[in-house]
Amino acid sequence: MKSLRLEIPLELYETEAELPETERTLLTEARQATHTAYAPYSHFHVGAAVLLDDGTVVTASNQENAAFPSGSCAEQSLIFWVGANHPGKRMEALAVVARPGEGEVYRAVSPCGACRQALLEYEKRQGQPLRLLMLGEKPGEVLVSPSVAGLLPVKFDSFD
Ligand code: THU
Repeated sequence: MKSLRLEIPLELYETEAELPETERTLLTEARQATHTAYAPYSHFHVGAAVLLDDGTVVTASNQENAAFPSGSCAEQSLIFWVGANHPGKRMEALAVVARPGEGEVYRAVSPCGACRQALLEYEKRQGQPLRLLMLGEKPGEVLVSPSVAGLLPVKFDSFD
């Protein structure tokens, strides 16, 4: 038996100002998208924004349901919409943020396991890494995963 340790590559930016303008815009759009969330059960408003290879930015948010599993996370709402309405476009970067409650305070959130799996399929399909932008733990910090695959070690992958 051998013990293995896997590394997750991440970039930590101390402030948003360190990011290129396109990525700062994505975070702004994701924050705005939290206001379209339908989250009467969790009051956890999640917004996501993605930059397509033609420069288009598309946003979405979580949409809950009284039958809890029937709701949809922001990231899945977003990528399924892009798949259906922007076929053939590659997704270059995706930002996700959360706003708990009714205030304007945004906090760190990283895609849940199911979202990582769904995102992975789209990353593989487009043959190009999809950068994931998340807020860090400290105010102003941004955490970036250069790919979805990097955030999902020991993944289920039926393509290989
Ligand atoms: N949620 C997301 O939209 N994305 C995630 O990655 C994690 C969780 C949503 C689902 C639910 O509407 C609320 O956040 C609380 O879990």
